[in-house]
Amino acid sequence: MREDDIPAVQVIERQSQMTPWSAQTYRREIQNRQACRYVVARADTRPPNGTPPQPDYPLLLRMLQRLGLIGPSPDQRALIVGYGGIWLNETSGHITTIAVAPPHRRRGVGELILNALIDGAYELNAQYLSLEVRVSNLTAQRLYLKYGFRPVGQRAHYYIDNQEDALVMWTDPITTTSYKERLRELRRQLYERLRQQADQVVADNPSSGPSVG
Ligand SMILES: CC(C)(COP(=O)(O)OP(=O)(O)OC[C@H]1O[C@@H](n2cnc3c(N)ncnc32)[C@H](O)[C@@H]1OP(=O)(O)O)[C@@H](O)C(=O)NCCC(=O)NCCS
Repeated sequence: MREDDIPAVQVIERQSQMTPWSAQTYRREIQNRQACRYVVARADTRPPNGTPPQPDYPLLLRMLQRLGLIGPSPDQRALIVGYGGIWLNETSGHITTIAVAPPHRRRGVGELILNALIDGAYELNAQYLSLEVRVSNLTAQRLYLKYGFRPVGQRAHYYIDNQEDALVMWTDPITTTSYKERLRELRRQLYERLRQQADQVVADNPSSGPSVG
């Protein structure tokens, strides 16, 4: 996540009905590279055959871009469809936030983001993963259970917006061979799923797929 991603992140955050963070909070978190990792997931807006989309952008600006004098226009940059963050709290990589834009849910994006955060946890030398989640949020809890988080307690009235209790979840040590093997198998399944989805896009748009001959 970069500073100029924050407005798009905040749009998804508002759609995900969580207590929103200020832009200042995001800025502070992403600058804290010693203890935090924040990521965004972007949808690849290129058609499957790799042709870049035709920008709806004035000619002069396009020329300046080609000369490397300015960056891509906001609408040329791939759409942010999800984001997440992790913070090293002593020995634990604590998931602080994760959300996927509603139209992009149930396609493995949340899982992909969680995996990026787990990589962040390894980078930060975390021994465990931990988080709090609303007791009513069974969808997120299922995602976490899949990755070895287990409920270890509750925090009463943790969420200030509706006084809801938080379920506290932790993993076993993530440095063990057994956790790493589990993770490898989950990733294999996830990448297979994402590959099949990508193949489906090509099958649904045969004219945009790679041409033979
Ligand atoms: C939780 C959230 C990030 C999941 O993102 P997603 O991209 O839809 O999830 P994925 O497609 O990667 O699904 C991964 C796993 O999550 C669980 N899951 C996701 N959506 C689910 C649903 N609607 N019902 C039940 N389980 C669900 C499943 O275990 C799923 O694995 P499976 O496909 O093998 O069944 C998304 O629902 C979201 O943004 N929710 C609002 C924000 C939020 O609640 N964040 C968590 C705060 S702690």
